[in-house]
Amino acid sequence: MTSSIDVAKYKAAEEAVKRILNLRPRILGVGTGSTVDIFLDLLVKRRELVDAKFVCASLYTAQRLAESGFNVMQLSTVDGVDVYIDGADEVDRELNMIKGGGGASTLEKIIAYASNYRIYMVDYTKLVNRLGEKHAIPVEVLPEALNIVYKRLREMGFEATIRFAKSGKYGYVISDTRGVIIDVRPSQEFNARELAQTLKSIPGVVETGLFVDMADEVIVGYPDRVEVLRKNRI
Ligand code: A5P
Repeated sequence: MTSSIDVAKYKAAEEAVKRILNLRPRILGVGTGSTVDIFLDLLVKRRELVDAKFVCASLYTAQRLAESGFNVMQLSTVDGVDVYIDGADEVDRELNMIKGGGGASTLEKIIAYASNYRIYMVDYTKLVNRLGEKHAIPVEVLPEALNIVYKRLREMGFEATIRFAKSGKYGYVISDTRGVIIDVRPSQEFNARELAQTLKSIPGVVETGLFVDMADEVIVGYPDRVEVLRKNRI
């Protein structure tokens, strides 16, 4: 049975395809996750952007695009991206986000940073008043530094959980960038920019899933409509 959240994700993805086909990027960055998957289903059906190049935030996204005949480039060969499209786990009123629920936020952040225009697709349940309301903050860590970072995070007063694979693998989730993910819950309200800096100041932390000032627009899907939120216009 299709849930209202699935319908909302579909609506956001449908709007994103329209907007991206209008923008006609030469290089399109693509994130990962279930909403991106719907976006890819719809894009593949349109058979457009055949001359565009794609850079991907996960092996899975890259494989999907390559199998459908799109031109996938290695991220290491690119120094700029025209448009980036992705999903998110939480979005606040300033369009700051938590990402990385799917374990891929490091490459997602690098590609978003290199992109001229960043579009995110979310269903309505992802909108929050305060980041961290529903999701922990994923922190990707070099495997060698895992114990040291884990201990330090707890000393700093965070609730920290090393992400364990739910199925298909026994043990920790290993990201596309070969990192281990620690899900961090702050004990009190936080400023996203400051917290991102604090977490990154621990040697061994590769990246955090806090995305501050990295969205130009967020397409919010509802069961019956979409809304487009833009920075400073909400
Ligand atoms: C991947 O690690 C994430 O950043 C996803 O973009 C995020 O979790 C949203 O995923 P869904 O589209 O599956 O909700």
